[in-house]
Amino acid sequence: MSPTTALVVAAVVAVLAAGGLASYVAARKLVALVNGTRKAVADARAVLERRSKEQEAALKAIAGALQGQSTHIAVLANTLDTELERRGQEQHAELKAIGSAVQEQSGTVAALAGTLESALERRTTTLGTQVANVVEGVRKQSKHIAALAGRLDTRIEGLGQTFESQQARVVPSLDEAGSLRRLKVVMGVGMDLQVNRSGTDDAFDVYRIRKKGTTLSFARVEVPYYHYYTADRQLHLLGDWNQPFGDIANAVLKTGTTHLLHDRLFTLWQGVKGVAASSAPIVEVGAWKGGSSRFLAEACRHFSKQGRIYSCDTFTGPVQVTPGVDGDRTAAQFEDLYDDARALLASYPDVEVVKGDIEDTASLIPDTPLAMLHVDVNVYRATAFTLETFAPRIEPGGVIVADDYGSITCPGVKQSVDEFVAANPHFRLIHLLTGQAVLVRIDAARPN
Ligand SMILES: C[S@@+](CC[C@H](N)C(=O)[O-])C[C@H]1O[C@@H](n2cnc3c(N)ncnc32)[C@H](O)[C@@H]1O
Repeated sequence: MSPTTALVVAAVVAVLAAGGLASYVAARKLVALVNGTRKAVADARAVLERRSKEQEAALKAIAGALQGQSTHIAVLANTLDTELERRGQEQHAELKAIGSAVQEQSGTVAALAGTLESALERRTTTLGTQVANVVEGVRKQSKHIAALAGRLDTRIEGLGQTFESQQARVVPSLDEAGSLRRLKVVMGVGMDLQVNRSGTDDAFDVYRIRKKGTTLSFARVEVPYYHYYTADRQLHLLGDWNQPFGDIANAVLKTGTTHLLHDRLFTLWQGVKGVAASSAPIVEVGAWKGGSSRFLAEACRHFSKQGRIYSCDTFTGPVQVTPGVDGDRTAAQFEDLYDDARALLASYPDVEVVKGDIEDTASLIPDTPLAMLHVDVNVYRATAFTLETFAPRIEPGGVIVADDYGSITCPGVKQSVDEFVAANPHFRLIHLLTGQAVLVRIDAARPN
C-alpha cells in the first residue's frame, strides 16, 4: 500500500471512530489535507521529474561537451604527438649533426694538439740545441779568448828573445834598389808585426818591433838566413828567369785567400812541376778560402799537368783538436767559406771542391793512385787521418807536402807526420826551412 492510501484508510478509520459531523468535518479536512498532500506529492514528483529531465539534459549536454572535449583532447594529443615526434626527429637530427660536428672538432682538436705538441717538442729540442750550442760556443770562445790572451802574452814576452826560423816567418819588403827596407814577421795566426832594422850588434841585426804603430820593444832578432829571406835571393826567386811563378804567386796572394807566402808556394810549384807528367789527381786537405788550391790549379795549367784536383775542407774550421797534442789550439769554428772557395775556383774545371770533415768525405774521392798530396789542416787528428788514407795511394815519384810541420803553433802536425814516417819507413821526410815537410816515397823500404 502506498503512503497516500494508508493515510486515507487511516482517516476513514478515524472518522468512523469519532462519528458525527465533527467527525465528518474533520474527515473533510483530512481529505482536503490528503488531497493537498497528494497534490504536493504530485507537484514534487513533477518537479522531480522536470528536474531529473533537466539534469539528464544537462548531463547529456555535459556528456556531449565532454565527448567533444575528449575528441578535441584526442586531436590535440595527436597533434602533440606528431609535433613531439617531429621535434624529436628534428632534435635528433640536430643532435646527430652536433655530435658529428663535435666528433669532427675533437678530431681536429686532437690533430691540432698533436701538431702543437710535436711543434712544441721540436721547438723545445731546437731551442735546447740552440741554447746548448750557444753555451758551447761561448765556452769555446772564452777558452779561445783565454788561449789567445795567453798566446799574446807569451808572444809579447817572447819579443825580447831570439826568433828562430820556425817560430816566425819574416817577410821582407824591398826598396826600389832591391835592398831590404823592412821585415814583416808573421807570428802564428793573425799576428803580424813590423820589424825595422835599426842597427847591428855582433852577429845579430837589431830591429825595432812594432804592432799597429806602437813600439813594443827593441829586440835582437836572429834573421833566418835561408836564401829566400835575403833580399838578393828573393829577387832571384821572383826574377825573370823564374817566371811565371812570381806573377802567378803574386796574383793568388793578391786575392787574400791563402796563408801561404812565396816560399811555401814555391815548394808546391816544384811539387807540381815534378809530377806534371802524371794525370793522376792531386788532393789538397785544408783549402780554407781556396787560394792554395787555386795556386795548384794555376801551376798545373802552367806545367800542362792533366787530372783532377780535389780541394777538401770543412770550410768552417777544424773539427777535432786533440788536447795536450795540438798546443793551445781550439776547435773554434769560423764563418762558412764554402761559397767563397767555390767562387774562387769556379773557372778551373778540373778542381772539385769537397766540403766536410775529411774523415767523412775521403770516400768521395775516387780510390785511384795520386800524384800529389798537400795537407794543411793545422791539427794532429786530421793530419794523421789524411796521411793514413791518401799517402799509401801516392804513386812512385809522387809528392806529399805537409804544411806547418815546423810551426810551433801546430805541434800536432809535427807529431802526426813523425808518427806516420816512423810507421812507414818507405817514406823519407825532408824538413824545409819554410816550415813545410816533404815526404818522398822510397819504395824499396816498403814493408810487405
Ligand atoms: C791553415 S788552414 C788551410 C790554409 C790553406 N791551405 C791556405 O792556403 O791558406 C787549415 C784548414 O784546415 C781545415 N780543416 C781542419 N780540420 C779539418 C778536417 N777534419 N777536415 C777538413 N778540413 C779541416 C780548416 O777548416 C782550415 O780551413
